[in-house]
Amino acid sequence: MEKMKHLQDNGLFDAQVPRYTSYPPANHFQVDVGRKNQARWLAAVPANSSISLYIHIPFCKRLCWFCACRTQGTKTLRPVDAYVEYLKQELTKVRTALPDLIKISRLHLGGGTPTILSPETMKSLLTSVFDRFDVEKEFEFSVEIDPTEASDALLQVLVGFGMNRASIGVQDFSEKTQQAIGRLQSVEQTKNVVSFLRNRGVQSLNMDLLYGLPHQTSETFRKTLEEVAKMMPDRLAIYGYAHVPWMSKRQVMIKQEHLPDNIQRYELSEIARKAFVAKGYVPIGIDHFALPEDGLSIANNSNQIRRNFQGYTDDNATTLIGVGASAISHFPQGYVQNAPATSAYQDRISHEGLAGHKGYLMSDRDHLIAKMVEGLMCNFKLDSADLLGEFPNEESFVTQTVLHLKSKFPDSFSISKNALTLRHHAKPLVRIVAKEIDDFACEATAHSSAI
Ligand SMILES: C[S@@+](CC[C@H](N)C(=O)[O-])C[C@H]1O[C@@H](n2cnc3c(N)ncnc32)[C@H](O)[C@@H]1O
Ligand code: SF4
Repeated sequence: MEKMKHLQDNGLFDAQVPRYTSYPPANHFQVDVGRKNQARWLAAVPANSSISLYIHIPFCKRLCWFCACRTQGTKTLRPVDAYVEYLKQELTKVRTALPDLIKISRLHLGGGTPTILSPETMKSLLTSVFDRFDVEKEFEFSVEIDPTEASDALLQVLVGFGMNRASIGVQDFSEKTQQAIGRLQSVEQTKNVVSFLRNRGVQSLNMDLLYGLPHQTSETFRKTLEEVAKMMPDRLAIYGYAHVPWMSKRQVMIKQEHLPDNIQRYELSEIARKAFVAKGYVPIGIDHFALPEDGLSIANNSNQIRRNFQGYTDDNATTLIGVGASAISHFPQGYVQNAPATSAYQDRISHEGLAGHKGYLMSDRDHLIAKMVEGLMCNFKLDSADLLGEFPNEESFVTQTVLHLKSKFPDSFSISKNALTLRHHAKPLVRIVAKEIDDFACEATAHSSAI
């Protein structure tokens, strides 16, 4: 009860805050910054180094009503095949803009639904990637998989090209909830994909679940969690459903009155946390869980996890290159987002070379705040000694920030000489704490619920 009061007093059940998968959040990227800097930042990647590569496939056969991802529905593969030809052109242009001897340490296909591609189209896309880039020894290749839209032949192609991680969309197995979010997916379908991948040696499987969906109750959610636990995913992402119909128009199909309120959302998140901790999973950051032997847990043990657009990762590459419509690249100098609409993206690739549109050029102060936000989101910690090691001229800013957080959130931190660490009961407040040091913090309605 005391914990609930503390969370309530600090705004957990009222606040709307960014998810801080980047700092600054992508809604603060500025027009044309990407276009102006992309070629220069690609050329400045050190020769002989490794990058991570993300490829965005913004198509789905059905559009789930809950989904806030940037994607478009299509009944045929014609626009998808055409789009992949542009991706291949972009890969060539990006490769040409980079210096020599660049290897990829990670390749991630996300969407939308990457598994919508026909086996032939997938083969031609992946051939194009591997013809242009050599891979690191510890190369990881992961794909987002919709179990209702993944043929055996397509999965076999992915395995053949070395996919060693897969992220499987589940959300919730309750039929009433599935009806209300426009996404029907049986436990059987999901199990089949899991067995197919495991039998072919895919080492690490992640599953995505959502709490806060329509008609979800403690009882229905527990059943979903039990079914999921039986499949023993190596990792889990259990996100709070972001109901943002002003941004994601199809969410108007979901009736507000069927959604759990914020206290119920918190309770659902706690049910999931306790269930998976009891099964031996390690909680990672705000919404991920991993088996103790998984790379994410190992990185978490030594405070080495990072936050990126996919959530939490143990990827420590300093350059992430995003290819495809709306894909975001992260360079040491800042962010570049490709033209978001598929048509605009294709037009840019045909007529202008690269597709960078919006972006953000980081100042030294932005880098410092980004490091503070990432430290909070990953380790629930603001470590002054660590920050000043990297930013020796920022002592007064760091000291003021520490004083401000201590007074704004009394009883939330354990305090040592060099660091503030959120106490266990206050961890759900982390996005609210991060917003307090966010130079871009703006009107609440632009974001989703803090829980
Ligand atoms: C690109 S999507 C899904 C990949 C694949 N197309 C599928 O359906 O299985 C990646 C994840 O984003 C999460 N997601 C989508 N919309 C969301 C929302 N409104 N709030 C929170 N998470 C969301 C879901 O958990 C989803 O599995
Ligand atoms: S959840 Fe997956 S299949 Fe559904 S609309 Fe979003 S990206 Fe497409």
